[in-house]
Amino acid sequence: MDKIALLQSMIAEAALGGGEVRIASQHKKGKLTARERLQLLLDEGSFEELDMLVANRNRGLTADQEQFLGDGVVTGYGTIHGRLVYVFSQDFTVYGGSLSEPHARKICKVMDLAMENGAPIIGLNDSGGARIQEGVVSLGGYADIFYRNTRASGVIPQISAVMGPCAGGAVYSPAITDFILMVEQTSYMFVTGPNVVKTVTHEEVTAEELGGAQTHATKSGVTHFACANEVECIQYIKRLLKYVPQNCEEDAPVYPYEPGQEAREALNNIIPLHPNQPYDMKEVIAQITDADSFFEVHSGFAENIIVGFALIAGRSIGIVANQPAHLAGVLDIHASVKAARFTRFCDAFNIPLLVLVDVPGFLPGTDQEWNAIITNGAKLLFALSEATVPKITVTTRKAYGGAYCVMNSKHIGADLNFAFPQAEIAVMGPKGAVEIIYKKEIDAAPNPEARMNELVADYTERFANPYLAAEKGYIDEVIIPDQTRIKLIKGFKMLENKVVTMPRKKHGNIPL
Ligand code: HXC
Repeated sequence: MDKIALLQSMIAEAALGGGEVRIASQHKKGKLTARERLQLLLDEGSFEELDMLVANRNRGLTADQEQFLGDGVVTGYGTIHGRLVYVFSQDFTVYGGSLSEPHARKICKVMDLAMENGAPIIGLNDSGGARIQEGVVSLGGYADIFYRNTRASGVIPQISAVMGPCAGGAVYSPAITDFILMVEQTSYMFVTGPNVVKTVTHEEVTAEELGGAQTHATKSGVTHFACANEVECIQYIKRLLKYVPQNCEEDAPVYPYEPGQEAREALNNIIPLHPNQPYDMKEVIAQITDADSFFEVHSGFAENIIVGFALIAGRSIGIVANQPAHLAGVLDIHASVKAARFTRFCDAFNIPLLVLVDVPGFLPGTDQEWNAIITNGAKLLFALSEATVPKITVTTRKAYGGAYCVMNSKHIGADLNFAFPQAEIAVMGPKGAVEIIYKKEIDAAPNPEARMNELVADYTERFANPYLAAEKGYIDEVIIPDQTRIKLIKGFKMLENKVVTMPRKKHGNIPL
């Protein structure tokens, strides 16, 4: 065979991974192959593969181990929306995508390139875990990846799609990355699988129940997106990248924007007349952001808080918003952690923050206290205090107690604080306040209930409004709601060149 023909045959062999039969078996499970996934992910013709001829070595358990070119992972670089990205895509048709030493080295090589060249790294995971034949060498390979994930955190965006098994210690690479996406029915993540669970705790649980996409999207919060299928998963990755910069030194892309009718009258009628009546904060978001630009992250987890990206006048922002339509928008452990992590991503990557506030306070109860609402609530307080990106707050209705301070108040570094006229900014809600301050007077009254109602009405009028906060300058402006978008466009523009110098330190110590 001449030398060119030999190379061509090797390339063809590598392209087939574990071979036709295993590819057919992958398709039968409703899964695409590693290469098909990359083809969908990257701009057409942009993919440049590296290390296609890397092969596993014949050593370890069985000397007659079959060799496959590429060794179970396809790596390289390409573009998405014309912007450079580095990728690795595990090939389940080769030893179940399991991780050998050469496989790990290939991943480390693209991670190093991504770091050195300041571009996102995207991992498509589909793997049976450590290559059993290799033993400890494989564990070393995992640790090499975890270490790089940690070094890259906050430097380049890291995205993990889980498109098949991801078990044991292997879960910790996605866990360190910024965003995880899972595919329903065909992917799962767990530290120990159903068999071990049954042996140790006697619980009977399926892989899907234990660690499927829905479980992690709603119960644990491990995944940010649960996708109906692989195509949707890849679309989400591409959409996500639209809002983020290439690295921590750059700004997110800016999109063309035609100024139009920016006053939004609908906002004047969104807040219900009765303060305890719920409304959907997503309606507020839709009114103040560019049309169809809101991209929600973590939508199924801790629905009492909303986080996601959007565009305002073509510029990317991160939104953290209480959701009064779910548990009255209360802050609990999950909501605090969800919002804190999103805040830190935005701050690490120069994405300005908009915080929309309608929060009755922190959720009371033994469950919350015993599971450390103190430590977890502090995460959000810390993350927002620490963030140096432009930060704007709009208080649409309630901002009570500690939750007022935490939700991007002026005191923790917000640059602009707006409030709707319906805002209620006080130490606590009128009823709770009156019950404490006027307890004796109410008990002594001939008609305690009537006296209580009087006092609540009086307190509401005097304290449950934005004007005491505005008087102190804690609120920069009380605005007519229909003006919100205009204020935000101007505000974020005004803050475009914000520079904050932080005290010298190695790193802070967020209450983990
Ligand atoms: C080597 C593996 C493998 C592995 C699968 N294969 N996992 N080869 N090392 N870890 C091979 C199989 O032998 C088979 O080879 C092919 O991949 C497909 O596997 P199947 O079992 O036929 O596929 P399926 O029925 O879909 O089941 C997938 C699976 C199962 C659930 C992942 O293969 C499985 O349980 N594998 C072992 C998982 C595991 O225990 N891994 C180690 C965990 S410890 P052929 O030749 O037939 O195609 C770990 C520690 C990480 O990962 C620590 C990091 C710090």
